[in-house]
Amino acid sequence: MITDPLAADHGALSDALAGVIEALRTYPGVAVGEGMVAGPAGRSSTIESQVEGFVKHLAEHMREEEDVLFPALLAVSPEAEPEIEQLAEEHWPIHLTAREFSVRFTSGDVEGACRVARVFLAELLSHVGHETRVIRRILDSAGPEALRGTENLFFEWRVRSTAAELAPLLREWDSTLEIVEARDGVVSVQVGPDAPSRRPLQTQISRFLKARIPDVLRVEFEDAHPGGR
Ligand SMILES: [Fe+2]
Ligand SMILES: [Fe+2]
Repeated sequence: MITDPLAADHGALSDALAGVIEALRTYPGVAVGEGMVAGPAGRSSTIESQVEGFVKHLAEHMREEEDVLFPALLAVSPEAEPEIEQLAEEHWPIHLTAREFSVRFTSGDVEGACRVARVFLAELLSHVGHETRVIRRILDSAGPEALRGTENLFFEWRVRSTAAELAPLLREWDSTLEIVEARDGVVSVQVGPDAPSRRPLQTQISRFLKARIPDVLRVEFEDAHPGGR
């Protein structure tokens, strides 16, 4: 089913946020709901990376929807523009809630962060439900020709969303990554200026993408030239 990659990412985001809430609720030394607030000194690195990972993943998810998915849906169904615009508008309050959540967490207000995270989860699930219904209706009413064209756009969207998760690995290698193209199961990637000499990094990226997206058949690496592709 064409919406599977989207559903998988929505599931991953909801699960990640539920995990963050659970981690905050049982945060060492903090009894949420009893008015105790933890200071930054007691924060564990595990929960920090959990929160950071979730916020980043969500921002990337919404950016890719706005840049790739929504324009693709609009091409399939121009008459659905008001509904697609509404989906994009729903991203704003989610961005604001994400910001409030991050600010509270980084300032050590764990109880407040936990409270905001619960509202956040409800907001996210409501948007995801609406988004899924709108997309399903557009795809169900599209002809087979339009759907074939959309498959590649969904593939590209999935690859770009997943590539965002490679950030920690790239930091480790002091490198950068750009998805040049993703279609028909083939992903073209440009990795940092020293990419050709970095075979192990290329192997890791290739393995990661193939493991996360079964539709990836091949990952090709392009040389990065200063001032050009
Ligand atoms: Fe969305
Ligand atoms: Fe979404």
